[in-house]
Amino acid sequence: MKINHITQLKPDSKVIIFAFLQDENFETHLQKTCTDFGLNFELLKQDFKADLKEFSFIYSPQNQKVIFLGLGKKPNSSDIIKAFRTLFFKQKPNLPNDLTIDIQNLPDEYLEYVVIGSMLGGYDLDLYKSERKETAPIFKKEGFFNILSNNPKAEEGIVRGKYISKTQMQVFDLMNAPANKKTPYTLAKWAVDSGAKFGYSVTVLEKQQLKTQKLEALLAVGQGSEHPPVLIVMEYKSPEAKQKVGLVGKGVTFDTGGISIKASTNMHLMKSDMGGAAAVMGTIELAAKLRLPVHLIGIIPACENAVDGKSFKPSDVINSYSGKTIEIIDTDAEGRLILADGLNYLVRNYQPDTMIDLATLTGSCVATLGYHAAGMFTNNDKLAQNLTKAADQTGERLWRLPLWDVYKEDISSDIADVRNFSGKPMAGAISATKFLEVFTENHQNWAHLDIAGTAFGDTEFAPQRAGTAFGVRLLLEFLEMITK
Ligand code: BES
Ligand code: ZN
Ligand code: ZN
Repeated sequence: MKINHITQLKPDSKVIIFAFLQDENFETHLQKTCTDFGLNFELLKQDFKADLKEFSFIYSPQNQKVIFLGLGKKPNSSDIIKAFRTLFFKQKPNLPNDLTIDIQNLPDEYLEYVVIGSMLGGYDLDLYKSERKETAPIFKKEGFFNILSNNPKAEEGIVRGKYISKTQMQVFDLMNAPANKKTPYTLAKWAVDSGAKFGYSVTVLEKQQLKTQKLEALLAVGQGSEHPPVLIVMEYKSPEAKQKVGLVGKGVTFDTGGISIKASTNMHLMKSDMGGAAAVMGTIELAAKLRLPVHLIGIIPACENAVDGKSFKPSDVINSYSGKTIEIIDTDAEGRLILADGLNYLVRNYQPDTMIDLATLTGSCVATLGYHAAGMFTNNDKLAQNLTKAADQTGERLWRLPLWDVYKEDISSDIADVRNFSGKPMAGAISATKFLEVFTENHQNWAHLDIAGTAFGDTEFAPQRAGTAFGVRLLLEFLEMITK
């Protein structure tokens, strides 16, 4: 479909969407719209209060369908995106292939969110159905979105909105793919294809190279799977870059728990255990598409944590890229093992100014913050502040949790340098981060984001949980903030 910027309503418009904020101008705006289309303001205002995601529609005497969408009082960008996404998701079968969204009454910066939300409304989960639903006319090639706006930077907002939503949908696809269609090589191929398309370099270290380079923690976790592990290295470098930012994402394509096998009830959800990888891959693709003035390095340790005669076992002592030895207490605490190699590979080979890792790391983080916020760990107050600011802006909530050294004893081992689990059912998200810290070479500008509760969630767009692309807009906002 095409997205057009217009500054005047086309006379033949059949469907016009208006979005309203619940502010002091609400009634004036509503009244003007009613006058313009010959609608009864007094009756409509009893029905439509502009609550977030509320929507109504009326046919005008000229047979135009006028849709009213509420945005509530003070929506953040996620709220606006969700309101438009829900409207389009639900209404798409009833929409023609040409419509207008009038956002003249909204702040300029909303335009990008309106585009993202509208595009995401076209996303369907039925990837593997033998009979797929027919694409709604508005989302077909010949679909036309006309955005009516006085924003002087409308064209830029439209391009950004398109880029961001397209990448987010790619990330949804990656997250929602089942384990038999998604192996470490699938992630590697995605990165290679994306790099070729958008102009950044991707190197994939395969099993033999992982052995030569001694990424032994990653090899240990992957050794029980028929799909060999890989380390994906993505690098985008703008000629104007002043900052070098390293991102690491946990890429476990399926987490059975290994020999410390998980209970079966919710095990199928563990196809989403590569949410950190997907967020990093999406962010780098977007940074390259948008030509951000930054040097970005993305490291994805990818593997499958499987049950097999060859699987690593509790009590094993394994080596790692850093040279530190690790006693395995629980093979289900695998994310921290592959991140240990990923983080250490990043610091040693690239010395980034800032280093952020994202991982669906612990059930403990889900128990602490539920599905509404990710845990943020860092000893750097400035970094915490910047990430929080970015998170508040995008509506991808972060909540800081402590990293005090008293928790270090949880990971001390009698026979190796560290152990991968305390054995105690408490403070699990913190001790996991203390474990990661050991492999950061004391980097002073590092943050770990535990996205176990936010990467794969309940949405209105599917009866079951699905990928959210949590972290992509957040990291993009963060990168734009620090490179401004
Ligand atoms: N992938 C899981 C964490 C997870 C849990 C992600 C729920 C998303 C939703 C991770 O590898 C894991 O199994 N962690 C264990 C660690 C424990 C054995 C120390 C956990 O949190 O229970
Ligand atoms: Zn696990
Ligand atoms: Zn896991």
